[in-house]
Amino acid sequence: MAKANDNYLRLPGNYLFSTIGKKVREYQEAHPEADVIRLGIGDVTQPLAPEIIGALHRAVDEMGAAETFKGYAPDLGYAFLREKIAAFDYQSRGCDISPEEIFISDGSKCDCSNIQEIFSLDNTIAVCDPVYPVYVDSNVMAGRTGLYDTAAGAYRDVVYMPCTAQNGFAPELPQGKAPDLIYLCFPNNPTGAVMKKDRLQEWVDYANKNGSIILYDAAYEAYISEEDVPHSIYECEGARGCAIEFRSFSKTAGFTGLRLGFTVIPEDLEADGVRLWPLWARRHGTKYNGAPYIVQRAGEAVYTDAGRAQIRDQIAYYMDNARIIYEGLQSAGYEVSGGVNAPYIWLRTPDNMTSWEFFDSLLSKANVVGTPGSGFGPAGEHYFRLTAFGTKENTIRAIERIRERM
Ligand SMILES: Cc1ncc(COP(=O)(O)O)c(C=O)c1O
Repeated sequence: MAKANDNYLRLPGNYLFSTIGKKVREYQEAHPEADVIRLGIGDVTQPLAPEIIGALHRAVDEMGAAETFKGYAPDLGYAFLREKIAAFDYQSRGCDISPEEIFISDGSKCDCSNIQEIFSLDNTIAVCDPVYPVYVDSNVMAGRTGLYDTAAGAYRDVVYMPCTAQNGFAPELPQGKAPDLIYLCFPNNPTGAVMKKDRLQEWVDYANKNGSIILYDAAYEAYISEEDVPHSIYECEGARGCAIEFRSFSKTAGFTGLRLGFTVIPEDLEADGVRLWPLWARRHGTKYNGAPYIVQRAGEAVYTDAGRAQIRDQIAYYMDNARIIYEGLQSAGYEVSGGVNAPYIWLRTPDNMTSWEFFDSLLSKANVVGTPGSGFGPAGEHYFRLTAFGTKENTIRAIERIRERM
């Protein structure tokens, strides 16, 4: 008899954003006149930049002519894109990363969740708390996390590293036995916090000393505005010996609907004497058939002079929204953080409300949707995430309503 993968049964309840979607739908059905503003889910709202649209059109035309038609992409992605990434994202920042170490994919969610497949099931994992849920859930599905403890809101075999106001929402090095796989995401979703270079260097040193691998998610690096914040973990000395990095074009250039991302694995990176690059190459070759040619051409356009200027403007637009949210809430007496190097504002709920109580209150009184911090992990309780990805007009209206009605 066929048996299901019962690891999936250990996933608690619904995916956070499905629960939010259901609550908002129910509210709107009951209040059809309500003008609900969504500052919850992290999706972009600005259209693709003209330079990217131009590249897409040209690539579509190429697909319509026999001489320029493209079928399956090369396993690791087209060299024209990998060379641009290596030069602009890494070598220009002094990071020793070559095009051969870059694996193009259709986005970083898949990469962040699939990467655990190349590691042994008996590896222990450590995650920030609160955390982007994909790292934990993908390990649950693989059977690496143990049972879910409902009271604690946590899996028994996962090391949760609290990110609190006291530590600036960047975790301390774990005490005791070192975890094998350490997921770090900076600038952080959901808190918007960053890790300065000297602190990230401590993590790299720790991982190298203990034989741990850091899985570094840099999906929001394009939002960094401060000088001493690293854009890549490979800016730290020794990171080639202990780190894999994930990047996405989603928030950098508005590709959430186009789909493009990449993973960097140094060719000499090893886990217990086994090189990881060939394992990921094998996985990529066996289970994945490449991001579409037209999308990789669109990705290439991000690195032209005009493309870079246009996406800089888009990011500035979102970061102005972040400033409006941050300053608006702070002057209204909220305790807020994030929003300077990331499009996320992390606020403490007033009057010790739970995250979900604040969600319900915000929805019903201000008709604004945000994301309850507790959905990202136990340490997110009493916090709430707002995103800067809305339109300017809606962002201003949402903050006015919060200031007037809450
Ligand atoms: C931290 C983090 N990593 C990865 C992703 C996934 O990005 P992509 O759209 O490339 O799958 C997201 C998307 O919200 C994210 O917040």
